Amino acid sequence: MKIAVIGSGNVGGALAVKFVQKGHTVLIGAKFPLSDKSIALAQKIGEDRFTSVEHAVKQCEVIVLATPAPLAVEVAQSLGDTSGKVIIDTMNIVMGRGPQGFTNTADAILAHTATREVVKCFNTTGFNNMQNTQYGNTVIDCFVAGDSERGKEIAQQLALDAGFGACYAIGGNDKFQLMEQFAWFWINLAMFQGQGREIAFKLLKR
Ligand SMILES: NC(=O)c1ccc[n+]([C@@H]2O[C@H](COP(=O)([O-])OP(=O)(O)OC[C@H]3O[C@@H](n4cnc5c(N)ncnc54)[C@H](OP(=O)(O)O)[C@@H]3O)[C@@H](O)[C@H]2O)c1
Repeated sequence: MKIAVIGSGNVGGALAVKFVQKGHTVLIGAKFPLSDKSIALAQKIGEDRFTSVEHAVKQCEVIVLATPAPLAVEVAQSLGDTSGKVIIDTMNIVMGRGPQGFTNTADAILAHTATREVVKCFNTTGFNNMQNTQYGNTVIDCFVAGDSERGKEIAQQLALDAGFGACYAIGGNDKFQLMEQFAWFWINLAMFQGQGREIAFKLLKR
C-alpha cells in the first residue's frame, strides 16, 4: 500500500517503521525544517520519505494521522483533496485537550475532509506497544471503528502488518467515542493507577 503518515513522533514513527519493514511505500507528511523527532525517524527510514503533508497525501491511498489531538482540525484542513482515500485516525482527546466543538478527533476529521472513509485505529494502546507487540509468547490485539468497511479492512491489514495478533472491528462511527474511552482506560491504568506503559490488551475467547 501507499501510506502517508502525518506526524513523525511517537506513534507516527512507530507505525512508519513497521509499515516500511513490511514493504509498504511510506511517505511522511512533515513540518519543515525537520524537528529532532523527524530527524530521528529519518535516520531509521530515510530522509527521502519526508515531504510536505499535501504532497504525501496526494501520492497515497491511505493516510495515517498521528498528530496532537488539539490540531485535528488544522491538520485535516492541511491534507488537500482526500476524496476516495482512507484516513486512519490514531488520535485521542486526553483530559479535554482536543479540537474545539468535538468530543473525538475522528468526527473533527470527518467534518473537515472530503473523504467519508475515516476510521479510528491504533489509538487504544501506547506507542511502546506499537514498537513491540510481543508479551512473552502472547501477541497483543488492537481495535478499529468506523462506518467505512474498506477503511476497516485496510486498518485491520495494517494492524497485522504492524505485528498485532488481531484487530477487532467494534462498530461504526458511533463507536469513535468508545475507542477514545478505551484509550483513556489504558492511559488511566498505565499512568494514574501505577501499572506503567508496559501493559496491553488481548481478547481472550473460548
Ligand atoms: N503516545 C502514545 O503512546 C499514543 C498512543 C496512542 C495514540 N496517541 C495519540 O497519537 C497522537 C500523536 O501522539 P504522539 O505521542 O506520537 O505525539 P508526538 O510524539 O508529539 O508527535 C506528534 C507529531 O505531530 C507532528 N505535527 C504537529 N503538527 C503537525 C502538522 N500541522 N503537520 C504535520 N505534522 C505535525 C509533530 O511534528 P514535529 O515533530 O515537527 O513537531 C510530531 O512529529 C496524539 O493525538 C495522541 O493522543 C498517542
